[in-house]
Amino acid sequence: MDTEFKGKRVLITGGLGFIGSNLARRLVKLGASVMLVDSLIPEYGGNLYNIHDIADQVSVNISDVRDPFSLSYLVQGQDYLFNLAGQTSHMDSMSDPYTDLDINCRAQLSILETCRKHNPKLRVVFASTRQIYGKPHYLPVDEAHPLQPVDVNGINKMAGEWYHLLYNNVYDIPTCVLRLTNTYGPGMRIKDARQTFLGVWLYAVLENRPFEVWGGEQLRDFTYIDDAVDAFLLAALNPNAAGKIFNLGGEETITLKALADLLIEANGGGHYDIHQFPATRKRIDIGDYYADDRLIRETLGWRHRVPLVEGLQRTLAYYRENLAHYAAV
Ligand SMILES: NC(=O)c1ccc[n+]([C@@H]2O[C@H](COP(=O)([O-])OP(=O)(O)OC[C@H]3O[C@@H](n4cnc5c(N)ncnc54)[C@H](O)[C@@H]3O)[C@@H](O)[C@H]2O)c1
Repeated sequence: MDTEFKGKRVLITGGLGFIGSNLARRLVKLGASVMLVDSLIPEYGGNLYNIHDIADQVSVNISDVRDPFSLSYLVQGQDYLFNLAGQTSHMDSMSDPYTDLDINCRAQLSILETCRKHNPKLRVVFASTRQIYGKPHYLPVDEAHPLQPVDVNGINKMAGEWYHLLYNNVYDIPTCVLRLTNTYGPGMRIKDARQTFLGVWLYAVLENRPFEVWGGEQLRDFTYIDDAVDAFLLAALNPNAAGKIFNLGGEETITLKALADLLIEANGGGHYDIHQFPATRKRIDIGDYYADDRLIRETLGWRHRVPLVEGLQRTLAYYRENLAHYAAV
């Protein structure tokens, strides 16, 4: 991986968001020429501060992936496309389903059409989500598990990933899909729970406020951002990834209550209260989930490198230094 991206042209949609900006930072280190596309819609996860240390080493294009004219220009001449732009809030997808449809479904088809017309050789990695499995029928959840999304976001993300596979299968555009589980680390959204509850927990412990744990016994897995970035790069480089779907999981499975305790340990202090799941959330909650990620480990040689407690410590250290740039206004 050390040399393969050197001099390559890489486009990242959603590049000012949490995962996109961390991917950009690694690609810059690897010598790639990186272009970030992001709409910076205020309620979403894009934040220019995410690239404060690499701003002079990447190009930024403030465009919306719903605009096929921008995209048809931007994909030209690129070697790789990491397709990460998305509406990520499950609750927002229920209160405003059409925006979620436009971004997570329709725009994905439009991006792929643009690739087909203007650059059918570029290699594409799409960021999908474990949410599309719905409530697990068995654990750990492998890629063959039925897809039964429990919210509008899950249905649209599912369509988005299947458009990617279709364009691989029918038009030979080499695409692959990563189904991410909870991903965390520096740059994640902390000011509200639109990305994940863990962000709100982090924010609270940093400000020495109590946070709420809903339920507490649900099992989850967590991928540290550097490990997720490894997976994106491996998936882009390996020709055996084309047309495939890979789960990403965590290095351990943990209940939410144990995670809350671990966060407090990593922070050296903090408090939480256990609450019942709010009724509106309960209806779209998936219960216990953890991934079987053997396929990506066996096919692409991916592995977790950062244990959960260390990942939490690194994340807390980042926000202690940079909190003002991520705080709620
Ligand atoms: N973080 C996680 O735990 C997680 C889990 C599963 C899946 N994912 C997927 O990974 C991808 C990246 O997630 P993230 O955690 O970095 O979220 P994020 O919100 O930090 O990043 C998404 C980025 O997409 C941008 N964006 C949204 N709509 C856009 C549009 N119409 N045009 C251009 N840019 C737009 C946002 O401004 C933001 O910068 C998303 O597709 C998400 O569904 C993330």
